[in-house]
Amino acid sequence: MKNIDKQSLENAYRLFDTGDIDKIEIGTTKGLQQIHNYLFKGLYDFAAKIRKINISKGGFRFANSLYLNEALAKIEQMPENSFEEIIAKYVEMNIAHPFLEGNGRTMRIWLDMVLKKRLKKVVNWQFVDKTLYLQAMERSPVNDLEIRVLLSNNLTDEINDREIIFKGIEQSYYYEGYEKNGDTE
Ligand SMILES: Nc1ncnc2c1ncn2[C@@H]1O[C@H](COP(=O)(O)OP(=O)(O)OP(=O)(O)O)[C@@H](O)[C@H]1O
Ligand SMILES: [Mg+2]
Repeated sequence: MKNIDKQSLENAYRLFDTGDIDKIEIGTTKGLQQIHNYLFKGLYDFAAKIRKINISKGGFRFANSLYLNEALAKIEQMPENSFEEIIAKYVEMNIAHPFLEGNGRTMRIWLDMVLKKRLKKVVNWQFVDKTLYLQAMERSPVNDLEIRVLLSNNLTDEINDREIIFKGIEQSYYYEGYEKNGDTE
């Protein structure tokens, strides 16, 4: 793992250990920026900053930077009343991909906060296979069925279990190792 990612992983542990996670806004763009800042402040000069250029991954173009702020304003208003609605919102936020790097790790924490608040559940990421997860995310802009099934099979009620949270964070950072199709424009 790159040094920057190791330091960011430490920041992620600290976010939960200090209880600072409870001060972060849930389900909003601001909340997403707060998490990004916490994970990457001092590591990336673009921490918490909405990107101004276009990016893509695996041939998929994320939201055009010209319309990104408008898109984010709409996404944060999407409902969160059911698991299906929450996943739909997560998928749209992934399509927006507001930061130059670190979107995946930031958004998995952001998703868990919404699930915790609305459903009293979180994803048990340690059991979510990396390849299946990344395939489902690549598919998600066209159809969110795969990611919905994958995550619904890995929900847990143990929302305050430190080991589950920390193993989940490690798994989330392990996904980042996947750079095969990391084309960025
Ligand atoms: N082709 C794709 N289409 C849509 N979403 C994708 C695609 N490839 C990856 N993703 C999503 O984007 C995330 C990666 O985005 P980014 O590199 O900004 O985040 P990261 O935190 O640096 O990486 P990671 O999510 O691997 O930890 C993946 O975790 C996945 O959720
Ligand atoms: Mg990345």
